[in-house]
Amino acid sequence: MTKRIRKAVFPVAGLGTRFLPATKSIPKEMLTVVDRPVLQHVVDEAKEAGIEHFVFVTGRGKAVIEDHFDMSYELEDTLQKRGKKKEYDALMADLPAAGATSFTRQQAPLGLGHAVWCARDIVGDEPFAVLLPDMVTMAGAKKSRCLAQCVEAYDRYGGNIIAVEEVPPEETHQYGVVSIGKDEGHTFEITGMVEKPPKGTAPSTSIISGRYILGPEIFKILETQERGAGGEIQLTDGMKSLAKNQGFHGVRFDGRTYDTGSKLGFLMANAAFALASPELAGPYKAELKKLLG
Ligand code: UTP
Repeated sequence: MTKRIRKAVFPVAGLGTRFLPATKSIPKEMLTVVDRPVLQHVVDEAKEAGIEHFVFVTGRGKAVIEDHFDMSYELEDTLQKRGKKKEYDALMADLPAAGATSFTRQQAPLGLGHAVWCARDIVGDEPFAVLLPDMVTMAGAKKSRCLAQCVEAYDRYGGNIIAVEEVPPEETHQYGVVSIGKDEGHTFEITGMVEKPPKGTAPSTSIISGRYILGPEIFKILETQERGAGGEIQLTDGMKSLAKNQGFHGVRFDGRTYDTGSKLGFLMANAAFALASPELAGPYKAELKKLLG
């Protein structure tokens, strides 16, 4: 019997250097995909997967994230007084329950592994999810987003779960890449992983795509984890150590991921979500057609 996945960690302490100057004073996680901050999309995905407690690992200049997940008294009062019920109800629906969020600071951007380790005391001794908040996912035909599919796999296999997606072989050197063991199609056994392998050496074209379910044993490992690729404390290196004693399964999830931390990924996410919006799709397509001639 597996434990329930109740908590999710959102590492939001990165500097967003790929998206300057936009991210100089606005955290990249607060840029919007259509009308919702990137991070709100990712929190929505976590809620859909049954997450009850949201742990944000933040840094300096990111206080606006905490405000976003709190009440905004003047705004709510004004919306009510002006009879804007639809807007008010939408804000209330997005508001996490009191006490359902925690915020801790990474202090220095030493890498994703270090950011996850900063959540150790808040997560405690239970398996938990990690969602990279600049990766926005869209559901495929299955209609549940990536993390819900990971939780489904966790309920079946236990251990640790990593969502993966396919990239062309010439792009693997930019990502964490997994080795594939017993393959059941939608899911498979992970037999190894490597962060940013030199060109031509990747064990597969399945890349680690930003959604994980991990056992709490990862924290002990991350505590003494040496710096890896890019001089950063890498989560992939920590997971590699954990894999010596625990099982890892990969999920080829049904859906798509957009890396909103890159300019092109951000633009693609906005296009995809606008085209999927019943209200915007028609007029957006018409405007795009004009633009493209
Ligand atoms: P990225 O490498 O995509 O984020 O890390 P970054 O460092 O902000 O981006 P660039 O390359 O400078 O543009 C993946 C995720 O891990 C978080 C980031 O916020 C991002 O969501 N992260 C990364 C941390 O929280 N702390 C870190 O030290 C590094």
